[in-house]
Amino acid sequence: MVQAFGKVILFGEHAVVHGQPAIAMPLRAISVTVKGEKTAEGGLRLVSDQNPEGLPISDATLDQALRLPIELALKHFNINPTPNLLLRLHSTIPVASGFGSGAALSTALIRAVAETLQLSLERETLNALVYEIEKLHHGTPSGIDNTVIVYETPIYFVKDQPIQHLTVGKPLHFLVATLPHATPTYITVGDVAKLYAANSERISAIFKTIGQLVEWGRQAITEGDAPAVGHLMQANQHHLQTLSISDNLLDQLCDAALDAGAMGAKLSGGGRGGNMIALVTPDLQAQVEAALLANGAVRVISTILS
Ligand code: PMV
Repeated sequence: MVQAFGKVILFGEHAVVHGQPAIAMPLRAISVTVKGEKTAEGGLRLVSDQNPEGLPISDATLDQALRLPIELALKHFNINPTPNLLLRLHSTIPVASGFGSGAALSTALIRAVAETLQLSLERETLNALVYEIEKLHHGTPSGIDNTVIVYETPIYFVKDQPIQHLTVGKPLHFLVATLPHATPTYITVGDVAKLYAANSERISAIFKTIGQLVEWGRQAITEGDAPAVGHLMQANQHHLQTLSISDNLLDQLCDAALDAGAMGAKLSGGGRGGNMIALVTPDLQAQVEAALLANGAVRVISTILS
């Protein structure tokens, strides 16, 4: 059985699309699992929560997010004709929620094909394959989602540069809250691109400032300086507001988290709904979680960066 975790972005979303660094970490509380087995006949079929009976991979009604990774894996390994294989998929990652569900599906499915057919697959190759699919779904992704999900480690990421693992001085406790609404990432990414086109000097200065915050964030994480991480999250959120990426509920949830004792809070991912992330101390975690739920969060997940 193979598993791929969800992910959450801590610093640098949006600016990362324009060449600045960002920091992201796996979200191990939610995942996609795929169990593969060779069968005597029946071609390649996929059983999922939506298709408990199982559908042939060639079935046109099968979701592209499921079909494309499997097709790409077969092409990559040059497997022809289609093998007899049954893949059973189960996901606890909500779709289109900023948790990297698409990249996690692709990662788990490609890994499952390789593992069941006993074919070796380097992480670097897997990452490149998943990025291909991300591009088909999202247009101009930075590649941060597939990278953190494939490598399953906290990362400092710069587009088109080799992955850098993050050193964590002391464990940091976070709460990740989901909002009841979301905006597709390609829309917010497109809106930021429009802002940039209209006023490139000013917006490029904001991207650079965010990039600097990410550098300081990396340093604070390495040194285990939680209060500094919290302050930098605040500053990052301020610039995301200027980029028109936050919204009323995101701002409200950030304020509620801070009022309840969080050290820092910001939106996470594409913005205008989706998710927000708050840095907490273990003793105030329950209080901050209650404040988030009371202010409209639909779900709160706790995670530790270590
Ligand atoms: O997938 P999301 O919604 O968490 O957003 C990814 C982060 C962005 O910087 C907004 C886009 C990207 O490709 O990096």
